[in-house]
Amino acid sequence: MKGIVLAGGAGTRLHPATLAVSKQLLPVYDKPMVYYPLSVLMLAGVREVMLVSTPHDLPLFRRLLGDGAQWGIRIAYAEQDRPRGIAHALVLAEAFLEGGPSMLVLGDNVFHGHDLDRRLAEGRQTGAGAAVFAYRVSDPERYGVVEFDREGRALSLEEKPSRPRSDWAVTGLYFYDGEAPSLARALAPSARGELEVTDLNRVYLERGLLRVSQLGRGYAWLDTGTHDSLLEAGEFVRAIEKRTGQKVAAPEEVAWRMGFITDAELLAAAAPLRSSGYGRYLERLLQRAP
Ligand code: DAU
Repeated sequence: MKGIVLAGGAGTRLHPATLAVSKQLLPVYDKPMVYYPLSVLMLAGVREVMLVSTPHDLPLFRRLLGDGAQWGIRIAYAEQDRPRGIAHALVLAEAFLEGGPSMLVLGDNVFHGHDLDRRLAEGRQTGAGAAVFAYRVSDPERYGVVEFDREGRALSLEEKPSRPRSDWAVTGLYFYDGEAPSLARALAPSARGELEVTDLNRVYLERGLLRVSQLGRGYAWLDTGTHDSLLEAGEFVRAIEKRTGQKVAAPEEVAWRMGFITDAELLAAAAPLRSSGYGRYLERLLQRAP
């Protein structure tokens, strides 16, 4: 399975913080936002990734992430000339995916929780069809919303409904079969001129091929869409890291734990980062009990 990180968009809701730099490069506490979704892909065992961003920001992502070899993965890059929608990323990635399944993650989504790797493995199991996660929120009108029947089966999907039928938001993590790029291409653009991911998911739902599983309260799915929520996400990460002495979403650590890089490669990745403490944390991993 290959991965796609969608890290474009105009970031207008965070202006002026994002006037000169992409939202997904802003820090969430101690690391760039894009590290969080990238770590999720890596935790799911994905080693081939395409990052989609704007012509202006792509060089900055390249500078930050390179070709991914330092983390034992391969990162390719694709330009999205303007925000054409989340589902458009699948159209851009069509050749890269070579007809195979994909895992798409939004570059501004932060996930954290016990057993996340097991939940990701569930998502990966999709043969034909697609899989998404739902998460209970207090402000569902800001998201894609899924309605469930009494048995917990998904009934409907709506994008940012003014009157949500439930408080279950669809998170920005999507698993698709090899058909997704052609289904995305066939979508009609929405009123705002975008290929909407909710429309794509609805195609799968109507075919009986969408699995929606709930991420319960043991998980954190954090928003970074406003100045307040971005700060709160940073505070959350800071609290967890201080309390546990472990980093949330350090790609070097994930790569090492997943066996993508050796001990020596971990040390090599850590060395240039020593002065911030992040590098010393990575070095200490080798001395710690599991
Ligand atoms: O975060 C989950 C939500 O993400 C879902 O519940 C919604 O169904 C889904 O539409 C999306 O809603 P947002 O309002 O958060 O989407 P936004 O336009 O902010 O884009 C999400 C990310 O994708 C953001 O990092 C920018 C990037 N993006 C978005 C579009 C539309 C692109 O790179 N290109 C695009 O064309």
